[in-house]
Parts: sequence; structure tokens; C-alpha cells
Amino acid sequence: MASTPLRVAVIIGSTRAGRVCDAVAHWFAQRARRREELAVEVLDLAGYAFPARYPAQATPAMCRFADAIGAADAFVVVTPEYNRSFPAPLKQAIDFAYDEWQAKPVGFVSYGSGSAGLYAVEQLRTVFCALHAVTMRDWVGLDLLGGDFDDRVPRDTDDRLRAVGAMLDQLTWWGRTLRQGRRDQPYVS
Ligand SMILES: Cc1cc2nc3c(=O)[nH]c(=O)nc-3n(C[C@H](O)[C@H](O)[C@H](O)COP(=O)(O)O)c2cc1C
Repeated sequence: MASTPLRVAVIIGSTRAGRVCDAVAHWFAQRARRREELAVEVLDLAGYAFPARYPAQATPAMCRFADAIGAADAFVVVTPEYNRSFPAPLKQAIDFAYDEWQAKPVGFVSYGSGSAGLYAVEQLRTVFCALHAVTMRDWVGLDLLGGDFDDRVPRDTDDRLRAVGAMLDQLTWWGRTLRQGRRDQPYVS
């Protein structure tokens, strides 16, 4: 039902010590929580003791992560750009779920020193396509060197809040539509 809040998981995509990502993710989550149709949770990859090597059997941390992905209706991945891509721990975590991503929408908040994380986002679109997830056309891109931040926290300019709104509008439409679709019939992967 459209009236049931959409469960949105905001994923902190960097686990680097001293990362900017947690501040960006919480900034975004606070703005998303202004919408009463969304139930927003922040998932911090640094809070999962993932194995260094992909194990033969899923570990408790991997299962806990897959359960959290399975419980969400929609996602917003907050990612920095590292060498024109996204961080390796984010890819590792994405790979620990599969069915749980299917037929769900994914939006992006990205940042970097120059391209506002555009390369990272475009590569994530390819990854999520392989997982049968739907990526949102509009995203929120932030330039670490271009005056978009006040001490690690993005500035609330009119343009930025419009970008947040556009992405959340799309995420909500797809989230509701796909939630209903998954209820109506099993997804064919
Ligand atoms: C290994 C490494 C590679 C990076 N490569 C890029 C890059 O290709 N493009 C870019 O815009 N910023 C790049 N940066 C800058 C990061 O986006 C910036 O340091 C950001 O704060 C990293 O996110 P985090 O602090 O949340 O980990 C790089 C940073 C690191 C540590």
C-alpha cells in the first residue's frame, strides 16, 4: 500500500578511517527523513566484520548484511570516488547479497575531488544492473574541492536540495511501484 512507509536503507559506502562518508550519509538521511512516506535507516559497512576473503560459507556478518538488504524496499548508496571508481569494501558488501537487491530501486549520493563522484556512480549502475536492481537517473553529486561542503557536511543550497528532492521523488515512485510488483508476482530473474 502506498500509505505504508517505504523502507529506505542509506548505505555508508566508505569504511576508510577518517572518512567523510558518514557525515555525508547522515546529512542525506536527515533530509530524507523529512518525508513521512519514507522510513530511513543508515547502514554502515564499517559496522560489519566482513571476512577478508570470500568464504565457502556465509559468515554471520554476511547474513546480517543480506538480511538488512532484504528488509529494505529501496536504497541510497553514498559513495566517494577512488581512482575513478567506488571503494572496494562497497563492492565486497554488494556481492554479499543477491536476491535481496532484486526488483528494488537504488539512488546515489556521490562525492570526490574533481568529478563529484560521477565515475563511481556510473560504475555502480553497471553492478546494480547485474543484480536486477533499478538505478535512479538523478543523483546528488558533491565536489569536495568546489565549495560544496562546510567542514565535511554538504551545504544546503537550493540546487542541492532540489537534487535531493528529485532523486527521492524517483526513488519513492520506483520503490512503491516495485514493492507492489513484488507482491503481485515473484520477480523473474
Ligand atoms: C585511494 C584514493 C583514490 C582517490 N581517487 C579519486 C578519484 O579518482 N576521483 C576523485 O574525485 N577523488 C578521488 N579521491 C578523493 C576521495 O574522493 C576523497 O578523499 C574522499 O574524501 C574519500 O571518501 P571518504 O573520506 O569517505 O573515504 C581519492 C582518494 C583516495 C584515498
